[in-house]
Amino acid sequence: MCGIVGYTGRKESAPILIAGLKALEYRGYDSAGLAVEEKDGIKIVKSVGKVSALKSEVSNYTLHGTTGIAHTRWATHGKPSTINSHPHSDCLGEIAVVHNGIIENYQALKDELIKKGHTFKSETDTEVIAHLLEEKLKSVNSDYENEFLKAAAEVTKMLEGSYALGLLWKKAPNMIIGSRVKSPLVCGAGENENFLGSDVSAFNQWTRNAIYLDDYDIVVLKENEIKIYDRQLHEKYYNIIELEQGLEQSGKNGYEHYMLKEINEQPFTVRSTIEAVLKDINTAFGITKDELKNIKNILMIGCGTAYHATMVAKYWVEEFCNIPCQAEYASEYKYRKAAMPDETLAVFVSQSGETADTVSALEKARAAGFKTLSICNVFGSTLARMSDHTFYTKCGSEISVASTKAFTAQLAALFSLSVLIAESAGSISTEKKGRLLNELAKLPVAIETAVSEDGSISKLAEKYYKEKTFVFLGRNVNYPIALEGALKLKEITYLQAEGFPAGEIKHGPIALINTDMPVISIMPADSLYDKMVNACEEVMARGAKAIAVTDEKGYKLLENRVEDVIVLPNVEEYLFPFISVIALQLFAYRIAKLNNREIDQPRNLAKSVTVE
Ligand code: F6R
Repeated sequence: MCGIVGYTGRKESAPILIAGLKALEYRGYDSAGLAVEEKDGIKIVKSVGKVSALKSEVSNYTLHGTTGIAHTRWATHGKPSTINSHPHSDCLGEIAVVHNGIIENYQALKDELIKKGHTFKSETDTEVIAHLLEEKLKSVNSDYENEFLKAAAEVTKMLEGSYALGLLWKKAPNMIIGSRVKSPLVCGAGENENFLGSDVSAFNQWTRNAIYLDDYDIVVLKENEIKIYDRQLHEKYYNIIELEQGLEQSGKNGYEHYMLKEINEQPFTVRSTIEAVLKDINTAFGITKDELKNIKNILMIGCGTAYHATMVAKYWVEEFCNIPCQAEYASEYKYRKAAMPDETLAVFVSQSGETADTVSALEKARAAGFKTLSICNVFGSTLARMSDHTFYTKCGSEISVASTKAFTAQLAALFSLSVLIAESAGSISTEKKGRLLNELAKLPVAIETAVSEDGSISKLAEKYYKEKTFVFLGRNVNYPIALEGALKLKEITYLQAEGFPAGEIKHGPIALINTDMPVISIMPADSLYDKMVNACEEVMARGAKAIAVTDEKGYKLLENRVEDVIVLPNVEEYLFPFISVIALQLFAYRIAKLNNREIDQPRNLAKSVTVE
């Protein structure tokens, strides 16, 4: 949520900043801006809309300067507008600030600053930082670099909330200060140039050496120097991490949208994730079988799509392990008085590893003394660094805001983890463990078949894309998939889509059903198949058009009783979510495309939600 880039070196900074912003655009795209240090001061250029709009705005200027900061915004305080977009400046225009996060005490700070005579231009919380720095620096006449650092340390101590910051001051040229609390910030160490970014994609086209900052760190970047300090300005030792090759964004590869590319990548990303686990399942999650043996409770936490993965995993854990398992929204868990039983394993699931709600939930679990395990896709992310153990899904970059390949990779990791816990707890035999993992290993072939259903799903989308409301039904492991199908559809089409457990519709949701409404039921020929057929009958009796997402066996049993069918391969019943979700991802994609939506960057959303 909001992307930050900084560059200091020997090259013109503006093109590098814009390329960095482009790579970070998935974090926010309602407005963008940059600040370049020119010979006679800091020049700021901003525009509403995407980075391409900023790029064309910048082409109206001749910007020269080898140090700069830039920002792509997802609005929190103040509507998207040129005034509200970053960088923000002080009264004199000598300071530039880019910020990701929320300053919760900004109103009190702003009131004080106004009393002192400061004039604010924007409605943002961020602008207070520029004026606070101005206040601290106004009587400085020497030792500018050092004083800038001291002022940054003092100002950050006054801020409550979350922030990742990039700061420039005209009187300390060729130097960027960065700092973070609960929002991600990474440095890139190059040759005669250094970078700052919300994540490594901001700079990994120029350097593969990354330095991950911790909360409260303050970093000073110069052309040939990176120094990191703690809050008391004691210099810190830091590690430079060499980024793995091949995990970066590699373009759309001929696909019209990243989302379609990422849906199509799932046979490979699920396979790679399964291979990473099966290389040695006993060590893959970092937690030993002895530790797992004593686990009495499991808590699974995530947001949005990642939460749906935890919901599926709850069914697996309780089926295989006979251990109580709770799946929770991070945003709910962190503020409620939850029972904190001993011997709990808390599992955090997140593509980005930066979701603020999930990070706060992890803090709560750590404070309770739980063992913590994160399943993340982004190397070095905050969740990964804060957890006792981390397993990385093997998806490569997921660029489309709507999550697809991360979900199925999370499922692969969670299924394997459930099997490992079950064996460690003595609930299943080693032979059964082998059989379950063998079924998992066969999945990529079925996933490939599911992806190849795009043609028939496109035809279905043509029939239904003008509808205004869609209902999704499922039971057991397919209930979270009904929720995920509805989430995907609403995110990228802006149409109303609701997911329900099929058994619940008669308790209320059936009142929604009206003539011709599409009701999509996920119903493989499993132990609850007949119940799902009943649900289809109930909605059809009220005029709905029932669409069954089923397997080959289920298709034969259906005998044309429903309006439309998506037929997927037969897999073990607990594994059907891996392939049914792909059909629903494609359905959402095709409906969005027919409605001419901004598929990769839907309105109001951002990929990495780093604010509460
Ligand atoms: C839905 C979607 C979001 C994310 C959620 C969590 O398509 O992308 O619901 O799943 O914001 O994000 P991560 O997984 O990065 O924690």
